[in-house]
Amino acid sequence: MAFTVAIDGPAAAGKGTISKAVAAHFGFAHLDTGLLYRATGARMLEGSDPVDAARALRPEDLQRDGLRRADVAEAASQVAANPDVRAALLAFQRRFARLGDGAVLDGRDIGTVICPEAEVKLFVTAAPEIRARRRYDELVDSGAETSFQDVLADVRARDARDMGRADAPLRPAGDAVEIDTSDLSIDQAVARAVAVIAAAR
Ligand code: C5P
Repeated sequence: MAFTVAIDGPAAAGKGTISKAVAAHFGFAHLDTGLLYRATGARMLEGSDPVDAARALRPEDLQRDGLRRADVAEAASQVAANPDVRAALLAFQRRFARLGDGAVLDGRDIGTVICPEAEVKLFVTAAPEIRARRRYDELVDSGAETSFQDVLADVRARDARDMGRADAPLRPAGDAVEIDTSDLSIDQAVARAVAVIAAAR
């Protein structure tokens, strides 16, 4: 029987890093569900209708270059507010959650909507300034020219849209375990997540 780990939280809180690490630790499959919305957003930027794009999405679309760009992140958060886009992406995520021995899905609504029956739910957060600082450092390392204030404004705008939308807003499931990574190293955050999952297995 598949064991599902749902990991939700706002942008740049450390979900992706923690998800990859715990998937590797337990030998589980991992799906970064943000890529589904980013791939759909990228198609919208190219002129496609977002609902058609979400319905036509194929696994190889998740490997496209450029999905990490800031304009694609913004487009992702716009298309993610459309209930028809979310509905089109639901079945793929639910099937993934039941693949093999175990699966880790990370996103915004995994514990609340996609996998409310997940065996483990984590809600990974950090203060907005800290998340913006991490994202800014990543962008600068990758050669992008931006300012900390712009990145902070983007983080806040995306938080507001993700938490404020009517359909599947970002919020912790009632039975989620919260991990605030503001004052944790990556290793400490991963160790906490591994401990919660190990206790539930
Ligand atoms: O996690 P990531 O930054 O890649 O997500 C991009 C955008 O996709 C988020 O800002 C959010 O609007 C949307 N998203 C979502 N539900 C998910 C994953 C991502 O609405 N499960």
